[in-house]
Amino acid sequence: MAKFEGFRVRNFRALKDITMGKLWNTKNNEPLTPMVAVIGKNGSGKSSIFDAFGFLSDCLKSGVEEACDSRGRGGYRRIVTNRSQEPISFEIYYRESKKDLPITYELSIAEDNKGRPYVESERLRQRRKGEKAYGRPFSFLILNKGKGTVWSGENSGFDEETNESFEADKKNEIELANPRQLGIATLGSLKDHPRIIKFREFIANWYLSYFTPDAARSLPLSGPQKHLDIKGENLSNVVQYMEREHPKRFQNILDKIAAKIPGIQKISTVKSEDGRLLLKFNEQGFKDPFYSQQMSDGTLKIFTYMLLMEDPEPPPFICIEEPENGLYHKLLEPLANEFRNHATKSGASSQIFITTHQPYFIDALDPKEVWLLTKGTDGCSVITHASKNEIVRNLNEQGLPLGGLWYSDYLD
Ligand SMILES: Nc1ncnc2c1ncn2[C@@H]1O[C@H](COP(=O)(O)OP(=O)(O)OP(=O)(O)O)[C@@H](O)[C@H]1O
Ligand SMILES: [Mg+2]
Repeated sequence: MAKFEGFRVRNFRALKDITMGKLWNTKNNEPLTPMVAVIGKNGSGKSSIFDAFGFLSDCLKSGVEEACDSRGRGGYRRIVTNRSQEPISFEIYYRESKKDLPITYELSIAEDNKGRPYVESERLRQRRKGEKAYGRPFSFLILNKGKGTVWSGENSGFDEETNESFEADKKNEIELANPRQLGIATLGSLKDHPRIIKFREFIANWYLSYFTPDAARSLPLSGPQKHLDIKGENLSNVVQYMEREHPKRFQNILDKIAAKIPGIQKISTVKSEDGRLLLKFNEQGFKDPFYSQQMSDGTLKIFTYMLLMEDPEPPPFICIEEPENGLYHKLLEPLANEFRNHATKSGASSQIFITTHQPYFIDALDPKEVWLLTKGTDGCSVITHASKNEIVRNLNEQGLPLGGLWYSDYLD
């Protein structure tokens, strides 16, 4: 599965300049773990990180101008850090699979003289196959203000320091028609550019959860759907899909989920008269079943998370803000373990990124998986890795759970 090894965000909301994990030129940093949790006080920048992913994914889908205005972001001036004149920029260091070499994607978004955001530059780089492990990466997409060069195929590129081209016949000059669309959105749909296709798909398939229990209670009429949407609105459509396409597997999943939700004995499905599929929950102590519309917020939430992780083709990256909201505190450690099991299993898995305020959730995690955000004196976020704190590492190794250490102020 494709995974983030690291990323850097500059000038986005509270994030003046933060780096998590490894970048191509920070070789000594550890790559991000399959499960990542970010903690920090109110206003420290957790939602800014979540929204940085949301913003990037919106930029890919609908262009940078719409992305600046959507989801209540309020336009470019509101999201650029402290009204900075520097562009908003992102660097992503990701690996398509263990056998692929990591790719670096750089994007910067600025404002034109009419105050409209546009894509200032984009670059994709990768070391060439067979190059020494720590060699310089070669560019295979260079775009400045919509104009630039792209190299097709799997192993072509350009060394910007030596001006050396590899497989020069694969080089093409390009100019984009729309300066507000990402180049990877256009080029990532062309067969000639398999590396860009994969990278575009990596971002397009992120699952950024905006779950609300009421959305999950809705009963849309439309037919079966393969993947859960971001709010959980199509929960019953996904249930319908699983029941139709994988009936045995689905019943196993329902049994497995039922065993994990306290008080639930059995989950099954029943068809309503107008053809909709209802989820039926049998609860301990009640003869008659309940339907999802009557189930509690927390039960629906756990069910939705579990179903998301049972997707036969799960998203490469799942990001959830404060998954603990509305859940009983004793469920949090098991939930964190479920997330980690999913993130670290071989085969179809997802990297899971969460933000949390809950020490019980953090109790299940290792210092390598936890990052702490604080506000610097300039009001901007500073991020540190819990594993860099030697006292915390030692106490955790001696068996003291990390959430408890956080609660006792060892992490702040
Ligand atoms: N454009 C901006 N430039 C600088 N700082 C900003 C900008 N937009 C928002 N902020 C700051 O970012 C902070 C909000 O950060 P964020 O919402 O990411 O915090 P949080 O960690 O999610 O907090 P909570 O735990 O309360 O949800 C606020 O303090 C706000 O002042
Ligand atoms: Mg927040």
